[in-house]
Amino acid sequence: MKKTDEQKLSGRPGGLLSLDYNNLMSPAVDEAGLSEADLGAIGEALNSARKNVEGQYKKGLLPFMDLPFQSEEVKKYQSLAENLRKFDNVVVLGIGGSALGAKAVFNALRPLNHNSLPASKRAYPRLFVADNVDPEGFGALLENLDIRKTVFNVISKSGATAETMSQFLVVYDRLKRDLGKTSLKDHLIITTDPQSGVLRKIVDRQALMSLPVPPGIGGRFSVMTAVGLAPLAAAGVNIADFLAGAAAAQQESTAEPMKNMAYLFAGLNWFLTTRKKRASLVMMPYADSLGQVADWFGQLWNESLGKGRLLNGKDANAGQTAIKALGATDQHSQLQLYMEGPKDKTICFLRTETFRQNLNIPRLFDEHPELAYLGGHSLGELLNYEQRGTARALAAAGRPNFTMTMPQVTPAALGYLMHMLEVATVVSGCLYKVDPLDQPGVELGKKYAYGLMGRDGFEDFKAAYDDSLRDDPRYILS
Ligand code: PA5
Repeated sequence: MKKTDEQKLSGRPGGLLSLDYNNLMSPAVDEAGLSEADLGAIGEALNSARKNVEGQYKKGLLPFMDLPFQSEEVKKYQSLAENLRKFDNVVVLGIGGSALGAKAVFNALRPLNHNSLPASKRAYPRLFVADNVDPEGFGALLENLDIRKTVFNVISKSGATAETMSQFLVVYDRLKRDLGKTSLKDHLIITTDPQSGVLRKIVDRQALMSLPVPPGIGGRFSVMTAVGLAPLAAAGVNIADFLAGAAAAQQESTAEPMKNMAYLFAGLNWFLTTRKKRASLVMMPYADSLGQVADWFGQLWNESLGKGRLLNGKDANAGQTAIKALGATDQHSQLQLYMEGPKDKTICFLRTETFRQNLNIPRLFDEHPELAYLGGHSLGELLNYEQRGTARALAAAGRPNFTMTMPQVTPAALGYLMHMLEVATVVSGCLYKVDPLDQPGVELGKKYAYGLMGRDGFEDFKAAYDDSLRDDPRYILS
């Protein structure tokens, strides 16, 4: 790939993605930083994590690593997408891992005004991801759509998630009422476990259109299955290139640990958390298109690594808190804390060198030096100089940070980034000695909610909840 001017300026290599961790090293951030000896220790830990990951892969426990290589699946979703072009809207009903991947990729790869363009200016349907049950939000979305021109993709691996199932019931009822029972076969696509769960039963009994969530793939690792690929193809994302980038990340993840990005990302952050008290990782994209990647990453990192129990059964409070920030917007809200507040964070910048659209800043008001310096630059340049300035300022204040650069936000680059981060998450699981594929902490809250909503079999949770209600008026202010 030809080097861009910015790469020449910074000496950064080309490729889909680069990771520059100079500002994690002690010459840049003094005692907060890493020494060569620290890198040696990280390398050793990663070597043993590597054996562990390879062992798990051989036992078939990490099937997400094979997802980038499924060319047959790509054809299937591309042909489904062709059929869906007759619709004006594709609405995903899902939550957590069944929503965040598609949201992040759609936002990154389709024009940011895709959903506001009139149908005549769009080759593909609009894509909405309804991942909350707020009646005002969901109600407003439904009100704005012409249901006759809308297909709903209900995505739930378990087929039991209360939020998604409630949305499903609302939509099912509305389709039946407004368009008649026969419409269900055209306007609903159900993505769920191929064998188990109540959704699967409904699909089979009513012969509804359905797609499988492959066994062994958890929600937050599922963007490269039907969960992400089907709605993304429908919205016009080049899913073949997306997977090709992911395949490159998978292949490169077998290189020597300190020389491959997934292991390095995991190792650096683990060491900073456990040895340098950097309990939080702020993911700060400097591009609106990449903003929702930080939300997707937040779920992946937090739900996978935040665990109360180690693999050996011992109690722990493992993990590193991922926080989302958006540059330059959050320079004016969160940055003050990162510069001068608690020394407990690492900042990860995510930036691009090429904006699909750029705006030049006109040369005006030459008589005012406070404005004149802006003229002749572009907004993209300004954003990237803001990022560089912030990284430098953080380093000068002894705050470790590193920068991931995507020369261009392409399907391949995004596939590379997302798969690399999934592998990094599993490697981190080995380093923290936790199971990154489960989420026991999320389950308890769900059980109380089931009990409160009157679901059979969850009466004990309702009783326990009622029992615990000892609201003391002294502690309520109204
Ligand atoms: O990553 C996960 O496993 C979770 O976030 C799930 O995706 C989320 O809870 C939704 O689950 P389901 O797809 O079963 O409805």
